[in-house]
Parts: sequence; C-alpha cells; structure tokens
Amino acid sequence: MVMSSPLDEVATPTWSIRPEQPIDIDQIHAREILDSRGNPTIEVECFLSGGAWGRAAVPSGASTGKREALELRDGGKRYQGKGVTRAVEHVKGEIAGVLRGQDARDQMLIDRRLAELDGTETKSRLGANAILGTSLAVAKAAACAAGLPLYSYLGSPVSTVLPVPLLNVLNGGAHADNTVDVQEFMLVPLGFRSFGEALRAGVETYHTLKKVLRGRGLGTGVGDEGGFAPDLATNREALDLLVEAIEEAGYEPGREIALALDVAANELVFEKPKKGKNLKRPVSAPAGVGGRRGPVTYDLAGEGRTGLSAADLIATYRDWLDAYPLLSIEDGLAEDDRDGWKALTDELGDRVQLVGDDLFVTNPEILAEGIADGLANALLVKLNQIGTVTETLAAMELARSNGYATVVSHRSGETNDSTIADLAVATRAGQIKTGAPARSDRVSKYNRLLRIEEELEGAATYAGAAAFPRWKG
Ligand code: PGA
Ligand code: ZN
Repeated sequence: MVMSSPLDEVATPTWSIRPEQPIDIDQIHAREILDSRGNPTIEVECFLSGGAWGRAAVPSGASTGKREALELRDGGKRYQGKGVTRAVEHVKGEIAGVLRGQDARDQMLIDRRLAELDGTETKSRLGANAILGTSLAVAKAAACAAGLPLYSYLGSPVSTVLPVPLLNVLNGGAHADNTVDVQEFMLVPLGFRSFGEALRAGVETYHTLKKVLRGRGLGTGVGDEGGFAPDLATNREALDLLVEAIEEAGYEPGREIALALDVAANELVFEKPKKGKNLKRPVSAPAGVGGRRGPVTYDLAGEGRTGLSAADLIATYRDWLDAYPLLSIEDGLAEDDRDGWKALTDELGDRVQLVGDDLFVTNPEILAEGIADGLANALLVKLNQIGTVTETLAAMELARSNGYATVVSHRSGETNDSTIADLAVATRAGQIKTGAPARSDRVSKYNRLLRIEEELEGAATYAGAAAFPRWKG
C-alpha cells in the first residue's frame, strides 16, 4: 500500500485502504448502562470478523416530540419502569441474528434491514433505542476497520468544517425545577477564528455568568444540561443576564457572541384543568388544516402570562429580537400549531433562524411536509428521534437542499458517547448544541471537537457567522 498523509487518507475510498481486513459483522452485544440523569439506557457493541469494533450509547429526551421514534422501556418496578433489558435482548437476539455476516460498510442496507425487522412506523417493536445503538455501533466498527475517524468515514474529503457550539448556559422548562419558562438560553460564539477560541469564549462567559448570578443572590445550581437554573421573574431577565455576562467576560454581544433560545413550546401548552387538577399536557391532535379545532394557547407561567395565542408569542419574540442579539429560536410554537408556525415563519423567518425540533423530529417525511407548508427554516438533528444513521443523514440532506440550516443536537439525558461531534463535522452541519460547557456528558462532545480540530490541522475551518445566513449582526 502506498504511504499517504492523514489528509490523503480522508480522500481515499474506504474500501481501498485495508483490503485485507475482513469487515463482516461477527457479533453484536448490548448492555444496560446509566445516563446522565441516572436512568438506564442501552449501549451496543459491534465486532467485525477482522477484529475491528465499535461501541455506541443511546441518549434520551425529557421534552419529546409526539412523533419521535419509540424508546422501548421495560415498565414494571425495576428502575421505576425505565429499564431497557427488553431492548438489550432484542439486540443480542433478533438483531444480532439478522446482521451476522453482513458487510458492515453497507450502512444503508443494514439500517433498512433493521427498520424492516422492526416492522412498525415508530420502531416500537424492537425499540428505536435498540435500533439506533446498533446502527451507530455498526458505523463505528466500519470506520474502525477502514482506519478512519468516524467524521471521515461518514463524511467526505471536505468534512473539515468545525460547527459553531450553541452552549446552553441557563436552563428552564422541563430541564430544571425553577420558574423560567423557556427551556434553553444559549451562547453562540460565532465571531472567532477557530472552534477552540469560540469554545474558550463561551466557557469564560459561562463562568462569568456564575459570578453575575452570585452577585445578585441568584441560585447557581444547574439543570439537566449543565446550565444554571436560577428562579427569575421573567424570560427577559435571563436574556439580560446573558448579555451582561458576555460584556463582563470582555466580549462583544452580537459580533462575537450572540444568543439562541429553545422555547420547547410543546411544554407551554396547557389543557383545561380536569377534575380540579392543573394537568400539564401537550395537545393531542395536529392543528391547522384537517387537524385540531380551535387555536392552541400557551402559558408563560413563570412570568404570569397565561392564555397566550401564537400571535402573542410571535409579538413577544419580535420584542426580544429587537432588544437582544438573538439569532435562533427553536420550537417557538408547539408541534401541533401548524398555523402558528406558518405565521411565525412568515413574520420572522427572514431575520432569525427558526429551528424545528419537536416539529420535525428528524424525520425526512415529516420534514418534507413542513418544507412544503413553509414551516421553520432550520432542522434540529437528533439521531434517536428517528432511530438510524441513514435516516438522520437523509433528513439533513433534505434540509440542506431546501435551504434549511442544520443543528446537530444532544438530548437532555446523555452519556459520554460523543458521536454527534463526528456527525456534525462529517455533514458540515455548521452548528451543534450539546449543553453547557460543564459535566462530562456535555463536554465530551466539545472535547471531541477540540481533538478533531487538532487532527485536521491546517485543513480545519470554523463555520462561524456563515452558519447563520439570516443573521445581520
Ligand atoms: P430533550 O431536550 O432532549 O429533553 O428533548 C432537548 C431539546 O428540546 O432540544
Ligand atoms: Zn428542542
């Protein structure tokens, strides 16, 4: 074999690198491990006959979209119903049986086999957790056999763009027990020359924010994603605190560090109390054409505003856009409120990134409907919402070819598996959100990106402001 530089290797087709290495699947193993919230999750290992192998662990959400692929849990008493032994058995039994002997590089074929074997729309029979763990472990084993890092194996010779990190430094909503309605307040360090410099600025601002909070006598305990979770009177107060922290850390709000929100508005929809109970539950049928009758209403309970219409929330976002360097709003309205989403996109879509998370659930078919209806202008990418590598890549490709930005994302329940860092580089996603720069489940992804940036040496570029075409600074 001709000696080649690491960059030459990136450009070389995988099948010509180690032709002597057998790449058929020999064994697939799975086990139950714990995630960052102390809940069980599944970890899968795929061993190839030549000795290469890959391991992947599956994350888990708290504010989930209704059309996400199903995470199979055991029920019963064990781990309060959250065990995943059934998913583990499915991997070790049926799935391993079907995939044994398969060429591990046939990712698309393998993912299709997994979906067919499951046989349901939502991957509910075998469990999307069992299927995703397998899909990822196979990809990692194949990359290992090819002698390539995962971002090269899944990517192309131009997979050299490091994403802008969206650092969730203040937590609310379903991720914290405080009074803040908006789920995530994120720092977006876009005005830097490298990922490492951008991350450093974000980290310095995170530590400064802690000092600012302390100085005001506010709590500095953290939520599920490592961001601070103080009780605040309004959502604007959180935005003010972030701007203050950016300035105090010595950075320029907007030009160097901008802001992003995940409202997770599904969680703001309250049904009418039943039997005297104040039940918090998302609406149950699609709104708009052929869907739920009557408008969806929202509560910003933390600031005492209830019964808000989509128009009220859109007006609120407009006020925030006028007052703060805010360049991205995720799930600004509920997934069922399609009429509201259309209005939101028509009214604000030319000046701010509008990210569909629960709205699209990383599902190419659901995304296609949304694109046809003119909803949002960016896709949040969560592998476990759809359940295979192939379908995730398909959703990203569909987004990109329709001018939608892509934001690769963790879940609120995570492990130290850092696959999403490689995915973001492989696909030139431009953006990644993976929590605060604290707690190993979050920083494992940022640390992986630091390693990739180093590995790519001079070839690496930082996505920076170019990742936000609608942002006018
Ligand atoms: P989840 O939150 O992982 O709890 O769904 C993340 C998000 O809403 O983006
Ligand atoms: Zn979200």
